Amino acid sequence: MRMKLTSSFAVLLCVASLTVACAAQEAVSPAQNTSVAAPDATVVAQAPAGIPHLQKQGNATQLIVDGKPYLAMGGELSNNAATSLENMDTIWPKLVAGNLNTALVGVTWAQFEPVEGQFNYVQVDGVIAKARENHMHVILIWFASWKNGTSSFAPYWVKKDYQRFPRIQINDGKTVSLSGPLELLSTFGDETRDADAKAFGALMKHVGEVDGTQHTVLMVQVENEVGVLRDTRDRSPAANRAYAGPVPAKLMQYMEAHQDSLIPELRDVWAANGTKKTGTWEEVFGPGKPADVVIPIQTTSPPMSALDHMTNWQSLHWPSDEIFMAWNYALYLQKVVETGKAAYNIPMFVNGWLQQANHAWPGSFPSGGPLPEVHDVWRAGAPSVDILAPDLYLEYFDEVCARFSRNGNPLFIPETSTNPANAIVAVGKYNSIGFSPFGIDGNRPIGADLAGTYSMLEQLAPMILARQGSDAVTAVRMSQGDAPKNVKLGNYTLTFTYTGRNMRLAPQTRGQSVASPPPPGVAGVSGSEAPPEAAAVLIATGPDEYYFGGGGMRVDFTANSPGPGNVGLGDVQEGKFVDGKWVVTRQIAGDDDAQGEILVLHPNTILRVTLYRYP
Ligand code: DGJ
Repeated sequence: MRMKLTSSFAVLLCVASLTVACAAQEAVSPAQNTSVAAPDATVVAQAPAGIPHLQKQGNATQLIVDGKPYLAMGGELSNNAATSLENMDTIWPKLVAGNLNTALVGVTWAQFEPVEGQFNYVQVDGVIAKARENHMHVILIWFASWKNGTSSFAPYWVKKDYQRFPRIQINDGKTVSLSGPLELLSTFGDETRDADAKAFGALMKHVGEVDGTQHTVLMVQVENEVGVLRDTRDRSPAANRAYAGPVPAKLMQYMEAHQDSLIPELRDVWAANGTKKTGTWEEVFGPGKPADVVIPIQTTSPPMSALDHMTNWQSLHWPSDEIFMAWNYALYLQKVVETGKAAYNIPMFVNGWLQQANHAWPGSFPSGGPLPEVHDVWRAGAPSVDILAPDLYLEYFDEVCARFSRNGNPLFIPETSTNPANAIVAVGKYNSIGFSPFGIDGNRPIGADLAGTYSMLEQLAPMILARQGSDAVTAVRMSQGDAPKNVKLGNYTLTFTYTGRNMRLAPQTRGQSVASPPPPGVAGVSGSEAPPEAAAVLIATGPDEYYFGGGGMRVDFTANSPGPGNVGLGDVQEGKFVDGKWVVTRQIAGDDDAQGEILVLHPNTILRVTLYRYP
């Protein structure tokens, strides 16, 4: 188990500790504490004890339910699943079988307020009752003015009254785009905003009445993937007037007050245009897209280069348009959220459809949504929104988690795919409040692998949650072909080598080379698919003790403190937590750890390992 401290190893250690230091620095920035997680105290009352709320712990923000931190092992239902309670009857058993503790369930404005001023509580009451019966929690999604940028869930009485509830216009005043008519309500519609807020207030008042003591409902996502599609901004007459006017003082003051901690993408755009304290949107943030430039279906077509294709998923294009829209969606959402919180104050979040490599221009993704580059704009305009969340289908999972964790934004992933490695990394490394694949009742069922990961995380949750925000918990992910990875945790440096997630690889004896990765096909996957990623959560529970959850990797240990140079596996237990108590299911030695010399972590398996030192 002994390793020499080579120079590349030293560099890796250095990088690892720098990363930790940077994360810690971000976490204590004063700006974040004043502007981020706390609901607007002037608008909403402090949550009574027991009611779901957010609480900081180190550099993490946790969801507290009934006085304890909560880890949401979730899944989002397809959009209309809960519009029929009969349909839901077939879905609850699948959620239970998948080891979910939380379902994200849509409540549509159209169904909730079919006639203006008349509210229908049948669906929401039915969902809450069945969730309780199935020992689950729910996070509601308020599908109202916007869902994926468009307004298909607005009630009929809103849709047809397009004078009272105006639509966006694009290009030179059009309401039809290359891809068809635009059914997008405009943020420049005060009556729309007030009607949405009134309905949402009624929903939250009712949830408070029926759930204020039992806390089945944990949080609410307000709207879904807001933003302008098919143009970079709204070009209706009201929007054009606002765009030609000055950037509102409230936004300018926020930017000045937070100048040192602004998200770099926004700070750079501001600086590139002279860090002006006042001016029109284009004076302060640079040019917007000319109205006659039509958004191509794929924005990597010319003038974009191949390099653009690789990098555009996080570059800003026509920034003043995106920032302008972010500000106006934030103001609108602030009104809706503050009305809901005044009725029942539980955490509320918004979710963003992210920029993609081939959809990089705002408008090819909803322009103005809560994307990382405009997080500060959202903070300034919608201080009552607790979490700015990513719908994370991009392959750059870790990078997106890191970008959504800046300036203390709590991480929660309401939509994603079912990769179990992502669940482990989100919770163990990025302190996520939860993980939630989309469409679990339909085209993205929870398979056995993720169900196993959820069960494992649920058992480890008390230990993980007690350490989130500190350096006693983290996670590692590896793919076939990766070089070994070093992680400094507790008194040891842990070196991970990929062995393959889907096989129980027999450890090799000392002196043999590190286990080679299995070829595709051997690991239980077809040759054309990438082998599944390996991932494990690592928890340091004592000076020489670790718990590991998950695997597909072997671990070698190097001591970081003075003492004998060799590290031995003193005691290795495989086990599980039953009612919070550790139960050993197998004692590991002999063939299962190469006669005590090599520790191999297996998927969805928990190990408790005690190390010792010898000369
Ligand atoms: C993202 C949206 O937020 C969901 O409601 C759903 O439409 C999915 N896309 C479909 O993949």
